Amino acid sequence: MKRFFSLLTSLLLAGTLAACAETGGQSGASDPASPASEPQTFSSPEISSESQAEPASEEETRVLVAYFSATGNTGRIAGILQSALDADLFAIQPQEPYTEDDLNYSNDDCRANQEQSDPDARPAITGTPDDPDSYDLVFLGYPIWWGGAPKVVYTFLESCDFGDAVIVPFCTSGSSGIGSSAEDLHALAGEAQWQEGRRFAGSASEDEVLNWLETLELPAE
Ligand SMILES: Cc1cc2nc3c(=O)[nH]c(=O)nc-3n(C[C@H](O)[C@H](O)[C@H](O)COP(=O)(O)O)c2cc1C
Repeated sequence: MKRFFSLLTSLLLAGTLAACAETGGQSGASDPASPASEPQTFSSPEISSESQAEPASEEETRVLVAYFSATGNTGRIAGILQSALDADLFAIQPQEPYTEDDLNYSNDDCRANQEQSDPDARPAITGTPDDPDSYDLVFLGYPIWWGGAPKVVYTFLESCDFGDAVIVPFCTSGSSGIGSSAEDLHALAGEAQWQEGRRFAGSASEDEVLNWLETLELPAE
């Protein structure tokens, strides 16, 4: 049975960090994508698509933070989670990176809008994590696009078998809530168990993220 010992240790550490962190502090060394603040620049994030997998001992909980971030906000939150949980990190990357024009949602014909309005759109991605089924817990992050998750996240979930892992969604947005985005993704996640997700502002502080982590009811052994 999958175990959760080291996760509890990490969450205790996260709580300590939350207590020590300065209000509004940002994750520094672990920040996988920048810039961190809103409004966005719509530039492509310089992020690694490699999962930094480490061999797991029998008793280790394997935690993955997987995320898509077009302008860095979700990537920054993912970095905070990865650091607090000592998790593997995986950036979902479209084969064709989004340009500024692609993300210009005030243009009805921009690529992002076209994809979001097409139920069958599944933009190709550059890869998936090694051995996804080996993870016990997966944090899945994405920006809200027109009230939903970007279709590259659909591609990702349909390309990965996370077995019976627990998936915890999180998202960033300008103002919208997580809405039905998580339920829509859940339908694609096979047997994985799904927990209630959380929306953050793009400028959410490290404290906010760590405090949320502490509230999660993660599975017991
Ligand atoms: C195509 C597109 C659609 C968006 N739709 C919404 C939306 O419906 N509601 C909202 O609050 N923000 C919306 N946003 C803003 C993003 O959710 C927000 O800036 C997010 O933090 C970006 O995350 P990222 O930097 O990780 O890509 C949209 C942005 C884009 C590019």
